[in-house]
Amino acid sequence: MRITYISATIAFGTATLAQPPPPHPQQSVAFEPAGPGDVRSPCPILNAFANHGYLPHSGKAIDQNTTVNALKTALNIDPSFGVTLFNNALSTNPQPNAKTYDLDHLSRHNLGEHDGSLSRQDEFFGDQAVFDEAVFNQTMSFYTGDIITMQMAANARASRIMTSNLTNPNFTLSDAGSGASMTETALYVTNLGDKKAAAVPKSWIQYLFQNERLPYELGFKAQAEPYMADDLNNAIAKIQAAQHFPQSPGVGL
Ligand code: HEM
Ligand code: MG
Repeated sequence: MRITYISATIAFGTATLAQPPPPHPQQSVAFEPAGPGDVRSPCPILNAFANHGYLPHSGKAIDQNTTVNALKTALNIDPSFGVTLFNNALSTNPQPNAKTYDLDHLSRHNLGEHDGSLSRQDEFFGDQAVFDEAVFNQTMSFYTGDIITMQMAANARASRIMTSNLTNPNFTLSDAGSGASMTETALYVTNLGDKKAAAVPKSWIQYLFQNERLPYELGFKAQAEPYMADDLNNAIAKIQAAQHFPQSPGVGL
């Protein structure tokens, strides 16, 4: 069944609103969770894209144009940076010279996927691709206000890596993995949220991770200004500044 988001006007009832808010153009974005035969990834955002149809719902055979357009349309990620992200995804396809990737290629351990995730178990403990409530609860415990600041996000990331390091006998985190982990934290705070303030509503992040759905109904919309590679680098610098212990300086996915 295809579920379409009901506009805020209908959901809250026009009778009780003196001035109903104008419908957001993206409120009608379709949403359908993965069904039999569909594949998904350890990335909550790419899964949400497939659930909304920004990427193929099957999660399979995703090419450069589709990826770059999805990143641009849903999150206003500049195509120059979108191509970099696509190439990272493509590099996880086990077929040599492939032009596309499937979302489950991203689960390959120590390629795109790494230990110490915010919402997934380490490969040693279970399925590293699927949402895990206990792991995410640890992350959430560091969101100590309604708005997640970069300090809170950095604390959550450091805590997850430390827990994995202390409990997983197979724990590994290469410089590339460390850079990927920082990139993921940087992106959810400054691309989903406000890149100047480096802050994002907690409710949006909880909703995104738990539903693999963009939080349109909570007021999310893509930032007006295109998101560039430099925005990511600035955000990673803020994570590093928020950490008070020696840290691998990885800078990208
Ligand atoms: C996680 C790839 C776009 C946010 C991941 C992971 C991969 C990945 C492989 C798993 C890492 C792990 O936790 O083990 C990609 C690729 C992208 C992309 C190839 C684009 C083509 C984005 C965007 C955002 C984002 C645009 C945010 C705006 C995240 C977050 C996680 C993650 C927050 C961490 C999940 C967790 O730790 O549980 N991504 N991603 N990703 N990604 Fe993406
Ligand atoms: Mg992982």
